[in-house]
Amino acid sequence: MILKIRKTTDPILREPTEEVVDFGHEMQFLIDNMIETMRHNKGVGLAAPQIGVSKKIFICEFEGEEGSDYEAFPLTVICNPKITAKSKEEINMVEGCLSFPGMEILAKRPKEITIEGKDRYGKELKINAGNLFARVLQHENDHLNSTLLIDHIQETSVVFIGTGSLGKKALELLANDIQYNILSVITSKEKKITRRSSGGSNNEIKTLAKKLNLPIFEVDTLDNKEFINKLKELKPDLGVMADFGKILPVDMLSIPKHGIVNIHPSLLPKYRGPSPIQATILNGDEVAGVTLMLTSKKMDAGDIISQTAVKISPSETSTTLKELLSDIGATLLLNTLPYYLAGDLKPEKQDESKATITKIIMPSDGLIDAKASAKEIERKIRAFDNWPKVYTIMSNGKRIQIISAYMDENGGLCITRVKPEGKKEMSYEEFKNGYKTELTFK
Ligand code: NI
Repeated sequence: MILKIRKTTDPILREPTEEVVDFGHEMQFLIDNMIETMRHNKGVGLAAPQIGVSKKIFICEFEGEEGSDYEAFPLTVICNPKITAKSKEEINMVEGCLSFPGMEILAKRPKEITIEGKDRYGKELKINAGNLFARVLQHENDHLNSTLLIDHIQETSVVFIGTGSLGKKALELLANDIQYNILSVITSKEKKITRRSSGGSNNEIKTLAKKLNLPIFEVDTLDNKEFINKLKELKPDLGVMADFGKILPVDMLSIPKHGIVNIHPSLLPKYRGPSPIQATILNGDEVAGVTLMLTSKKMDAGDIISQTAVKISPSETSTTLKELLSDIGATLLLNTLPYYLAGDLKPEKQDESKATITKIIMPSDGLIDAKASAKEIERKIRAFDNWPKVYTIMSNGKRIQIISAYMDENGGLCITRVKPEGKKEMSYEEFKNGYKTELTFK
């Protein structure tokens, strides 16, 4: 019989447990049901309080998994356990719990232990275990002593480095996760925002950091001793960088204990450099993605920690794609960090032979090339929707921005909204009626 698993704030998880004295039928029935429940939920361990029974009994089992480095261990049932020895050496490992679905935290525990107790029939039992087996035994033993996964949370101190909106969601999630403590948000001084970020005048990361009550450190240039020394004093465990638009000085890279993890909005080594989102749209890609990499000396060439790809719609603009990748990147970051910090994920070198580099976009890139096809123009309008915008020159010598357009069935460009120089935005119909002219392209 599959039993209901008690979750998170259920008070029974914190109640004291009683010794098992009767190993009769009732206990055997309970243990069989626990085994069935653990296997059904694909868990590696289950303690009696988790199914609402305040007794000193837990079970565990790991059959091994393809691609997993962890060694299998057999079905083990322990009643009235006591940990009688622990190794001095402690290791970090990512832990989950059936009572906390979806939660994975980095927890430090002794690498090896000895546990003594009774088996399911009341016979004396003594187990020496290491690594995953030791970890699971300790976790389940905790359950019998009213200790839960969340009690093991250890804080990772983080400096966040970013200016443009790509990192917004990541900053928000990090700030709201009790596993992370943000020591400082390093951002570019206003008016110094580079074209790589939004091109707008307000710094969205600074605004968010203020709202979250985080310490903000605004910089003009990172290559100064005072700043490097200040960062050293903070002794961060980790740096997280997104959409910063400046190259970090080499001295800075090794200050955080675990390096600086960069969120890059492309599937590296494709689209390194300053305009990966625009390049994705200009090239008509059907798939976009986010890469987490370790920041290195060479731009966007650091070792890859993890990646995720996403199918995108043919009407995506740089603005909508950036928002999508901000969300995806943040989720990827939070899911990946515990494993990275535990040392379970080994960053891998990029394949240099496949690297492509995107260019810095200039205001003049917005001018429609007389030889461009309708398809190229339509992509350009979406790629440059935020900045620098796409424009052409009218016969009167004035500029006109093309705000939006689509492709008709015959592959022709249908303009829907425009903004003539010095005028407000209007529909293309209004423009044609007012100016008695049409915009023509090849
Ligand atoms: Ni648990």
